[in-house]
Amino acid sequence: MTPLLQVEGLRTHFFTRAGVVKAVDDVSFAVDRGEVLGLVGESGSGKSITGYSIMGLVDPPGRIVAGSIRLDGREIRELDAESMRRLRGNRMAMIFQDPMMTLNPVLRIDRQMTEAILAHDDVSRATALERARDALGRVGIPSPDERLRAYPHQFSGGMRQRVAIAIALLNGPDLVIADEPTTALDVTIQGQILYEIQKLAREAGTALVWITHDLSVVAGLADRVCVMYAGRIVEQGTTAQVLDAPLHPYTQGLLDSVPSRNARGARLRQIAGMTPSLVDLPDACAFRERCDRADGACGEAPPMRVAGGDPGRGARCHHPLVPWPCP
Ligand SMILES: Nc1ncnc2c1ncn2[C@@H]1O[C@H](COP(=O)(O)OP(=O)(O)OP(=O)(O)O)[C@@H](O)[C@H]1O
Ligand code: SF4
Ligand SMILES: [Mg+2]
Repeated sequence: MTPLLQVEGLRTHFFTRAGVVKAVDDVSFAVDRGEVLGLVGESGSGKSITGYSIMGLVDPPGRIVAGSIRLDGREIRELDAESMRRLRGNRMAMIFQDPMMTLNPVLRIDRQMTEAILAHDDVSRATALERARDALGRVGIPSPDERLRAYPHQFSGGMRQRVAIAIALLNGPDLVIADEPTTALDVTIQGQILYEIQKLAREAGTALVWITHDLSVVAGLADRVCVMYAGRIVEQGTTAQVLDAPLHPYTQGLLDSVPSRNARGARLRQIAGMTPSLVDLPDACAFRERCDRADGACGEAPPMRVAGGDPGRGARCHHPLVPWPCP
């Protein structure tokens, strides 16, 4: 079956005065309908730019220089701006870390929501308003009738993010890319929102890409995980495979830095060193300065190798934690 979203060999580079920033460099993954994919990595690893590239939201000096992005088997990389705009409000949507990327501060919520519906659907204003009210109710906003008449600044941070999520889901998109939409919220609200979005995605058969730097978030949410480092996916697999039996030393490092109940009182281990600058990155394993398994072979960039004959499972590493050909 054709996956809903198939990204292959995606490269998005920024042509800056300091040099070429390879923010996304040969990224490939696929997401099926009703599936939740977690895209995980430290700050600056290229997660957001991967999302923006799919949504057609990369601005100069950035540009997609290679690769293909297929939605339902259809190439969307070369679509003109108007076709992309239509796809964005309709078939795919992005939830940003900052809800004000979605919301207009000077318009009432009812107007923003009904306009989002009317731009894509030929329905009456009353029907659109009805749908807007339902959508607010579904993301757990109390008294939606009343709240529809409010402005964004009259909502708390958590409620504002719920409104942005309701808008993203308004036209029943096939694909939702959520870019750390809960990191600014307190833990209880984070949990509720995660649960609700996951439920909505499952019920509607939406493909969901969840971007986060936090492996513990994907543990309870994602079916599969891609770990990103310095613009590349360095490990992929089911959530259980990646979290319980990681192959890549970087994934292990991320796991060691997640607080766990069993390790209470023990010191958390941080990955030593810093993410490398992505400007004019040499063609070597980008993790080698921080990796205790590095040797001469790591001067050459490792390709993504499939593990155990499963095309969805693999890593980019010359010396994975379980030696190749990895079961
Ligand atoms: N407009 C730009 N010009 C130059 N470089 C950019 C630009 N936007 C992003 N980058 C670079 O692209 C790389 C990837 O950025 P991206 O925002 O995708 O990281 P991220 O994984 O989402 O990080 P975070 O967790 O902090 O959100 C970074 O090194 C960043 O500096
Ligand atoms: S390729 Fe080498 S440096 Fe890179 S993660 Fe694997 S062992 Fe470490
Ligand atoms: Mg980001």
